[in-house]
Amino acid sequence: MTPPYETILIEDIGRVGLIRFNRPKAFNALNSTMIAEIMDALEAYDRHPDIGAIVLTGNERAFAAGADIKEMASESAVSILQRDHISTFDRIMHIRKPVIAAVSGWCLGGGNELAMSCDMIVASESALFGQPEINLGVIPGAGGTQRLTRAIGKALAMEMVLNDRRLTAEEALRFGLINHVVPVERYLEEALALAQSIAERAPLALRFGKEAVNHAFESFLSDGLADERRAFYFCFASEDQKEGMQAFMEKRNPAWKGR
Ligand code: HXC
Repeated sequence: MTPPYETILIEDIGRVGLIRFNRPKAFNALNSTMIAEIMDALEAYDRHPDIGAIVLTGNERAFAAGADIKEMASESAVSILQRDHISTFDRIMHIRKPVIAAVSGWCLGGGNELAMSCDMIVASESALFGQPEINLGVIPGAGGTQRLTRAIGKALAMEMVLNDRRLTAEEALRFGLINHVVPVERYLEEALALAQSIAERAPLALRFGKEAVNHAFESFLSDGLADERRAFYFCFASEDQKEGMQAFMEKRNPAWKGR
C-alpha cells in the first residue's frame, strides 16, 4: 500500500505524522479499506526516522461513527469470522511510537475503540463518546468492552455497552477516558502540540515507557479480546443483528425478537 490513500490523508508536521480520516459523508465510518490504510500509515510513520509521534484525527463533526454498518450488515457469523477484519485493528497495538487521537464530534463504536487503542486522547468540547452497538443487535468487537471497562470502571462501562449511554467530553475527562478537553477551534492544534512535545523526547525511553504503561494496562487483555471477538462474530448468527443493521439503513426503529 502506498500513498495517496483512498480514505485517509497524511501530512508530516515537524516530527509529527498526522493521519486524517477522510470519509466525511459517512461520518468517517470505518470500512475495511480505511482500517487497512490507517494501519498502513501508522506503520509507515512508526518506521520513519524523522517522525517521533503520530496523531490520528477525523474532522470537527466526527472522529468516526463506528465500523461501516453498510459493509457489515449482510455478514453471517461464518463470513465475518473468516474475513476477521477486526484483527487488522490489532496492528495498532504494535506501533512503538506514541499515538494521540484528536477527537471531535461523534466517536462511536469502532471509532471509540480506535481512539481507546491510541495512547492518549485530546478532545474538543463537542466530542461524544459511545458504544451504541446494542442498537444494532451486536456488542463492541474491537476492544470496547475491555478497554472501556479498564479506563472508566465497570459501572459506567455497563451503562455504555448495555444502554448506549454516551459521554460528553467533560464527562470523559472526569472519568479518565481522555487527557484534555479544548475548544473545537483548537483541539487539533493542542493534539499536535502535545505530540510535538512528546516527539522531541528520548526515543528509546518513549518506546519503553509506552510499552511499560501498556503492560500494566493490558495484562489479560488478549484473553478478553479473544472472548469479545468470538461473541461479536456470534451476534451475526442472530436475526436481531440483521434487523438492527437493516433498520439503520432504512432509517426506522428496529423490532427486536431476541433470537
Ligand atoms: C455506515 C454510517 C455510519 C456507520 C453514519 N453513517 N454512521 N454509515 N456506518 N457507522 C452514514 C449514514 O448512513 C448516512 O449516510 C450518513 O452517514 C449521515 O448519517 P445520519 O444518520 O443521516 O446522520 P445523523 O442523523 O446526524 O446521525 C449521526 C449518527 C448516526 C448519530 C452518527 O449516523 C448513527 O447513529 N450512526 C451509527 C453509529 C453506530 O451505531 N456505530 C456503531 C457501528 S457498529 P446516508 O447515505 O444514509 O446519507 C461498530 C462495531 C465495531 O462500530 C466492531 C469492531 C470493528
